[in-house]
Amino acid sequence: MTGFEVRLAERRDLEVLMEIEKTQFPEPWTTGMMLDELERTDTRRYTVCTEEGVVVGYLGVMFSDEGMHINTIGVVPGHERRGIARTLMDDCWDHLVARGVRQATLEVAVSNAAAIALYYSYGFAPVGIRKNYYEATKEDALVLVAEIPSTLAEA
Ligand SMILES: CC(C)(COP(=O)(O)OP(=O)(O)OC[C@H]1O[C@@H](n2cnc3c(N)ncnc32)[C@H](O)[C@@H]1OP(=O)(O)O)[C@@H](O)C(=O)NCCC(=O)NCCS
Repeated sequence: MTGFEVRLAERRDLEVLMEIEKTQFPEPWTTGMMLDELERTDTRRYTVCTEEGVVVGYLGVMFSDEGMHINTIGVVPGHERRGIARTLMDDCWDHLVARGVRQATLEVAVSNAAAIALYYSYGFAPVGIRKNYYEATKEDALVLVAEIPSTLAEA
C-alpha cells in the first residue's frame, strides 16, 4: 500500500506543477505553456499523483494518429524513488490499453539515467538520437519507442 492516488490534473494544480518544472528541469516550461497543455484536453492527458491530497508528481502525455507521446514527467524534489513515477506510468498504461493505443514515444536527455531506467522498465527501447536537442544544455536526446500490449495480460 503506497497511499498514492492518481487523478486528472486541473487548473488548480498549476502552481505545484510549475514548482516541479522549475526545480526539476533545466528548461522549465512557462506558466502559459503549462496552462495551454492542461487546457488541450482533446489531445493531452495530464495526471497528478497525490498523497493525502497533496500533489507529489505529474505526468503529461499527448495523443496523435501515431499513438502517445510522453511530454513530461516529474516528481516533487525530495520525493524521488518512492514509486510516484511508476504509479503515474501504471495509470497511463491502463489508460493506453483501454484506449487501444499501440505505440508510445518520447525523448529523454542521454544523461538522465533515472528516467531512462524508468522508461526501459516499461518496454521502451532506443530508436535514434536527436543531436543538441536541449537548447539550455546542448545535450543530445535519446528517442525511445515502446509497443503497448493490447491487454495488460500481455505486458
Ligand atoms: C525520473 C523521475 C520522474 C523518476 O521518478 P520517481 O518517482 O523517483 O521514480 P520511481 O520511484 O517510481 O521509480 C521507478 C523506476 O525508475 C527507475 N529509477 C528512478 N530513479 C532512479 C535513479 N535515481 N537511478 C536509477 N533508476 C531510477 C527505476 O527503474 C525505478 O524502479 P525501481 O525503484 O523498482 O528500481 C524523477 O527522478 C524526476 O522527477 N526527475 C526529474 C525530472 C525528469 O528528469 N523527468 C524525465 C524527463 S524525460
